[in-house]
Amino acid sequence: MADRAPSETETQKPVAVITGTSRGLGRALAEHFLARGHAVAGCSRGEGTIDHEAYHHTVVDIREETEVQAWARALRREFGGVDLLIGNAGLARSALYLAMTPGDVFDDFLRVNFAGVFFTLREFSKLMLRRPDARVITISSTMVPLHQEGTSCYAATKAAVEEMTKVLARELAPQGITCNVIAPAMMDTEASRELAKDGDWKERMLEKQTIPRVIGMDEICHVADFFVSPLAGAVTGQVVYVGLVD
Ligand SMILES: NC(=O)c1ccc[n+]([C@@H]2O[C@H](COP(=O)([O-])OP(=O)(O)OC[C@H]3O[C@@H](n4cnc5c(N)ncnc54)[C@H](OP(=O)(O)O)[C@@H]3O)[C@@H](O)[C@H]2O)c1
Repeated sequence: MADRAPSETETQKPVAVITGTSRGLGRALAEHFLARGHAVAGCSRGEGTIDHEAYHHTVVDIREETEVQAWARALRREFGGVDLLIGNAGLARSALYLAMTPGDVFDDFLRVNFAGVFFTLREFSKLMLRRPDARVITISSTMVPLHQEGTSCYAATKAAVEEMTKVLARELAPQGITCNVIAPAMMDTEASRELAKDGDWKERMLEKQTIPRVIGMDEICHVADFFVSPLAGAVTGQVVYVGLVD
């Protein structure tokens, strides 16, 4: 659970919940919204890596429904509600052809990228109901429209994330909450570096992008800023592919 209670001034700040903040994109998003003046509650299965007075790390495995529920309860007690939810934590570790993908790999993808995102959206959207201009952002991938060989489980779970986000966008529209998806092309993170160990995977993937270069974290944060801005209140259920013409 969060290692300390927020101070009185912190509770005045907008509250952002971001999953998977110990490294990669989640960490970059957390640091970005901390710099913008949010209190950020982040999680990962391991210890936190961000040292900031307004950052609260909780060890949570989003695959476990009860852990996500306990985290949401703790944050409700500490902050009262949530203004921004970014469902970022995801698994991107295998590039096996469908016919060669073992059941446990399939199961891992389902549990992290699908069930984990579902539990997160369900539990935290309840904490957003009375927050004006609340925002939900999920993270998909350009692998969905690319239908790339070796991405059957990954791309299928990301397509599911896009669909869940659009349905939630309709369900939460009456409350003034928008739900949108950012789908980046290749970024430089531990996950993509791991995949790039496989021969010329990185070069082949970059060739398929419309903007054939690695996408910066700041470019993704910029899209998040757009969705979060009050003037984007009528933009909901949208997927922004960064680096690819869909
Ligand atoms: N990298 C890319 O090129 C790329 C491109 C398009 C989309 N994406 C998407 O962007 C998101 C972030 O990717 P990334 O490259 O930054 O990944 P990453 O470097 O592997 O970081 C993933 C983060 O999620 C956490 N995490 C993983 N499983 C978790 C679980 N079961 N419960 C809680 N936290 C968990 C990890 O911490 P622990 O391991 O300690 O739990 C880590 O903090 C993912 O949804 C990914 O699919 C990435």
